[in-house]
Amino acid sequence: MKERLEAIKKAALEKIEQADAMDSLNDIRVSVLGKKGELTQVLKGMKDVAKEERPIVGQMVNDTRAVIEEALEKEMTLLKKKVREEKMKREVIDVTLPGKTHEKGHRHPNQIALEDLERVFIGMGYEVVEGPEVEYDKYNFEMLNIPANHPAKDEQDTFYINKDIVLRTQTSPVQARIMETGQMPIRMIAPGRVFRSDEVDATHSPSFHQVEGLVVDKGITFADLKGTLEQFAKEFFGPDTKVKFRPHHFPFTEPSAEVDVTCFKCGGKGCRMCKGSGWIEILGCGMVHPHVLEMCGIDPEVYSGFAFGIGLERVALLKYEIDDMRLLYENDKRFLSQF
Ligand code: DAH
Repeated sequence: MKERLEAIKKAALEKIEQADAMDSLNDIRVSVLGKKGELTQVLKGMKDVAKEERPIVGQMVNDTRAVIEEALEKEMTLLKKKVREEKMKREVIDVTLPGKTHEKGHRHPNQIALEDLERVFIGMGYEVVEGPEVEYDKYNFEMLNIPANHPAKDEQDTFYINKDIVLRTQTSPVQARIMETGQMPIRMIAPGRVFRSDEVDATHSPSFHQVEGLVVDKGITFADLKGTLEQFAKEFFGPDTKVKFRPHHFPFTEPSAEVDVTCFKCGGKGCRMCKGSGWIEILGCGMVHPHVLEMCGIDPEVYSGFAFGIGLERVALLKYEIDDMRLLYENDKRFLSQF
């Protein structure tokens, strides 16, 4: 038995020494120490060994196993080291090669316009608030004086989640949400994404952005509205900008107007940019309709207010002289890197 164990040990150690790959070391482990390995076979033969000698033989088998395991472990460590050293030699890093540079991103024209716009209104003491893009029909239409069968609902056809929930067609519902809180006075702008079921073309997109504005307090008049929007136009488009208020209709304001600014490209003489008229339309506005105030729980005998809605893409396109809205959404770096 002893000779057999010695022979197994000798053969195994020789093989281990000669092995030059992890695989062969593993093979040796299996063939000697594994379930069907030589050493295990010896253990199985124990039943033929005399009872008194069993502990001695058992000890010998264990010693042999320990010696072989240690040799295997040692050889594996050596081999791993060798493999790693060879890999390191192959993978020499040339530190003189130019590195990979990461291009820095920057702000989108829409974002630049929004930040400019926010700066102007924050300067006038406005708060910037947000409302949900997925909105109740109640806020998007009903509370803004647009009942179920109102024709304005056709103009602002949108995506319905269900009968009562829509993708908002305008940022105006934020007006109702803020007024409902009843915290007076109100002086806020609410920028955000809006949705309409429009086809994509140079001036339309099913998803675009608006900035809503709302002021409610005691004694607010149309003069406040005019002064505020004139100030905004001058700060945003330049100090020589003039504004023109054209009567218009919106269901939630009375009286209502659309506002044009003098074309900053030609100064009002008429050019391609303003289609020869010298004026460019930038927003809708008006005095908050008494009925809207009432629906939001505000007494129109005590409070009055004005509201406006600016098309963000519209002013961004104008300010940066971009002639096609689609360019804003294509994310072409050659275009975006110009701003
Ligand atoms: N929500 C209107 C639209 O999408 C724009 C607008 C007009 C907003 C007049 C207002 C307003 O707050 O007073 O066409």
